Amino acid sequence: MDKVILTGDRPTGRLHIGHYVGSLRSRVELQNKGDYDKFYIMIADVQALTDNWDNPEKVRQNIIEVALDYLSVGIDPSKVTIFIQSGVKGLYQLTCFYMDVVTLARLQRNPTIKSELKMREFGESIPVGFRTYPISQAADITGFDATIIPVGDDQLPMIEQTREIVRSINNIYGETLYEPEAVLPSNDACRRLPGTDGNAKMSKSLGNCIYLADDSDTVKKKVMGMYTDPNHIRVEDPGQVEGNMVFTYLDCFCKEDSFEKFLPEFKDLDELKDAYKKGGLGDVKIKNFLYQVLEEELTPVREKRKYYEEHIDEVYEILKKGTEDASKHCDQVVDRLIKNMKINYFDNKEIIEKYTN
Ligand code: TRP
Repeated sequence: MDKVILTGDRPTGRLHIGHYVGSLRSRVELQNKGDYDKFYIMIADVQALTDNWDNPEKVRQNIIEVALDYLSVGIDPSKVTIFIQSGVKGLYQLTCFYMDVVTLARLQRNPTIKSELKMREFGESIPVGFRTYPISQAADITGFDATIIPVGDDQLPMIEQTREIVRSINNIYGETLYEPEAVLPSNDACRRLPGTDGNAKMSKSLGNCIYLADDSDTVKKKVMGMYTDPNHIRVEDPGQVEGNMVFTYLDCFCKEDSFEKFLPEFKDLDELKDAYKKGGLGDVKIKNFLYQVLEEELTPVREKRKYYEEHIDEVYEILKKGTEDASKHCDQVVDRLIKNMKINYFDNKEIIEKYTN
């Protein structure tokens, strides 16, 4: 069995540094380790449309933004196949067949969908496509024989649903599909980076994101406005580290040599935290440090982005080629399923003979 990694994102907005520490950074590491046969990253526009059906322009716009984000963090199209979901026609076929082996009751148990439904307040007017998107996601995964799915924990119910579909299909039609496994990010602290305002979720609507595409001045402004410890009023006051966004971010972004480079009077993050807790360390100083740490990470990202923004044709070419490659793989899976279902009426002699004699 080949080792196939697949993951994806809905193109509904630019990616931010929460995406970066939560998943993009480890995708680049995985890519560079090279321990796989195929590595796919999907821009899930069909899924994005399930709750943005009235705003295709937003989805279209963000396909290119997300592609630029991938390329700028160092996803290498010679190692990873980046593709657009809607261009892989086999996925619609798989989705259609999988619909028959999932009950509505099973779909309604999915906790991720439950909380999404609550948030969006669809009521009875829920689009069927949205309600059933976990089935389409099962196609996304099995359509490329993917076995390793690096995702956040909110996606675990989707992987579980996929595994059930795989088992059902294999039970009915014989071994056809592979059961995928989710791989969660290894660094727990960075799984869900909070917003700059301390809100648990970094989100566009809350205006508390630092985007990968933000310029240096914007990043500086956002860092200087970050939520710290509201009781740390004077420099000499003792400060709190828990819930202080500057320290939360430093936990995710600080590198071994960050202190040596930007704040040599401290040895490491523990020493900095101790000094802050004792009092005598001002917010501006730690914010400036965080700003420099972030800049070191974001400057090369910005440079790569600038290159690709000026070579947008290349980006479309990468997506086009990726989508063609992905389609070929998916067509093979569809053929396999159709053959095992024995509905390949026109090229199966057995069927033709059985029903014509
Ligand atoms: N549901 C995922 C998200 O919201 C996006 C996605 C679509 C995906 N298809 C996928 C992730 C297949 C992993 C595998 O982020």
